[in-house]
Amino acid sequence: MRVEVVPAGAFGEAAAAAFLELCARRGAQPLVGLATGNTPTAMYQALAGRGLPGVRAFAVDEYVGPREHACSNRAYFRSYWEPLPGAGVVEQFDPGAADLDQECERVAAAVPAGGGLDLVVLGIGLNGHLAFNEPGSARDCPARVVELHRESRTAAARCWGAAAPRQGMTLGLRELLGAKAVLLLANGEAKAAIVARALQGEVGPECPASWLQEHPDLTVVLDEAAAGRYLR
Ligand code: GLP
Repeated sequence: MRVEVVPAGAFGEAAAAAFLELCARRGAQPLVGLATGNTPTAMYQALAGRGLPGVRAFAVDEYVGPREHACSNRAYFRSYWEPLPGAGVVEQFDPGAADLDQECERVAAAVPAGGGLDLVVLGIGLNGHLAFNEPGSARDCPARVVELHRESRTAAARCWGAAAPRQGMTLGLRELLGAKAVLLLANGEAKAAIVARALQGEVGPECPASWLQEHPDLTVVLDEAAAGRYLR
């Protein structure tokens, strides 16, 4: 595990530099899983000034809600990823599909068919979730529809308001932990406790992010506040 701790103002640049370095190590057209949320925004903004190598991008999750909602992950990628120089369209879950289970099966098959994820960029939920793999998820769970835990709904309500979705569609821990390299990002004091729990606590389903401790190629970029309880 490689852990880099940087001042808050350098977080986006440090995350972008780590992303580009990890992409470069994976050869031509790596398949890259991408998170949304507040955490990676500064990385995407920093990438705007640098441009992207050729990558195939895959969203790690989506809300089960109206397909074109401004708070959907689809809308997030339209704002932060698709305008980047060199970025293509992000492959993603379609919450408008007639059969959501079948849609998740399609995605679960598409990732290995594409050679598996070469790199996945992840944030961490306050409850230790990765994408929408909430506490209690099995180590090898595949892409699927999930019920969002209260913490995730509360976080979603900041954008969605009273219409916060109850369900999400997510790559499973099978696809995420199976990525050849993982870049975990966290910033802000609110993440300090869960970062320490995930990286230095007991490994198991109560904290899905703790399984990252066992990953053979994990890079973590933290700002100083998020690293506040991580023992260096
Ligand atoms: C969200 C998403 C995750 C994200 C995490 C942290 O609910 N499902 O993909 O990484 O929670 O979000 P944030 O970066 O906004 O704190």
